[in-house]
Amino acid sequence: MKFNPEEIKKDFPVLKEGYIYLDSAATTQKPIQVIEAVSNYYLNDNANPHRSAHLLGVRATEDFESARETVRRFINAKSTDEIVFTKNATESLNIISNSFLKKLNAGDEILVTIAEHHANYVNWLNVAEVTGAKMKVAYLNDDRTLDIEDFLSKITPKTKVVAFQETSNVTGAIVDVKSLIKEIRKKTDAKIVVDGSQSVPHKVTDVRDMDCDYFAFSGHKLLAPMGIGVLYGKDGALNELSPLLYGGDMIEYVYETHASFLDAPFKFEGGTQNVGAAIGLKAAIEYLEKIGMDNIAKYEKEISKYAYEKISALDGVVMYTTSNEERSAVISFNIDGAHPHDIATILDSKGIMIRSGHHCAQPLHRYLGRPFSARASFYIYNTIDEVDKLAEGINYVKEVLKLGIK
Ligand code: ALA
Repeated sequence: MKFNPEEIKKDFPVLKEGYIYLDSAATTQKPIQVIEAVSNYYLNDNANPHRSAHLLGVRATEDFESARETVRRFINAKSTDEIVFTKNATESLNIISNSFLKKLNAGDEILVTIAEHHANYVNWLNVAEVTGAKMKVAYLNDDRTLDIEDFLSKITPKTKVVAFQETSNVTGAIVDVKSLIKEIRKKTDAKIVVDGSQSVPHKVTDVRDMDCDYFAFSGHKLLAPMGIGVLYGKDGALNELSPLLYGGDMIEYVYETHASFLDAPFKFEGGTQNVGAAIGLKAAIEYLEKIGMDNIAKYEKEISKYAYEKISALDGVVMYTTSNEERSAVISFNIDGAHPHDIATILDSKGIMIRSGHHCAQPLHRYLGRPFSARASFYIYNTIDEVDKLAEGINYVKEVLKLGIK
């Protein structure tokens, strides 16, 4: 199938209004195929899965488990036992870190990077605070890619867990996860946690090939509804973790004084699950696979290059996106003399929607020297013409704010 963002855009009802939506790193818009899949589930199959023996209960269970199989295939996990449905990547990462509250002791070490989203940072700060473990932070190269040498040099015999993102939601920098994990494994048996929230929507993901222990991502950043996320754990690694939520549907036997729990994935799926959103995730994956993840990656590289060159050439723009061409289609910037919220508000008056703020990455922004940035993020429905409109919009912002920049 030839990649055609104009054609793709037609599948997204909300974009029919003509919005220039450049905020897909926060959440993507949803195609009609996903909306209909969710709606069909509620119209035809709705019941509580894994509980009721009646026809609708069986259908709901089959729908939910078939969504799990679709996710397994999409990220190339070995078994559906390795796929847990969660609320989002934040919950997935918290299931992992929460378990380390019981595993770490004073003096143990956790290694993260300065570029992490708060979901893969403050949870580890908490583990460090509660257990007395030390949290170490790896920094970036001048081009804002991860300094691999610095990262590897911070691994010691005391390192028990390393946690890092595949792609930054601010700089767009991409970590070559497979080769980094190879190097990590030469130095330590520490558990390896990868946050794939900003990478899974944009390219082929193969968790077996990358050889991580745990991998997390959210559905809503890849066309699925909000409220569904995934936690992957290699082989039996999930069973080494403790549940975050205790309650119905995750137990084996419950006695007056004690209880035993099911194995993964059910051990982590206490309470009624968001089946509709899981069905939506399945439909979203099928939609993306029809376009082809390689085609998506190729197009995003093209739009990213065009946008990076166009926007960084504008007077007064300070760029935070990595200059390395292996990056996702995220343009983070400031305009000298303008607050990012003003930039976003003025662009919005022209129908251009971007995000402004710290993007849940305060340590990274401090490291980059400014507390906030403006961020335009592109996805499969964005066109090169929309990049040109963004550039015109930025010049308009400068005019409105009378920044005296030509
Ligand atoms: N983490 C999301 C973002 O980067 C919300 O905008």
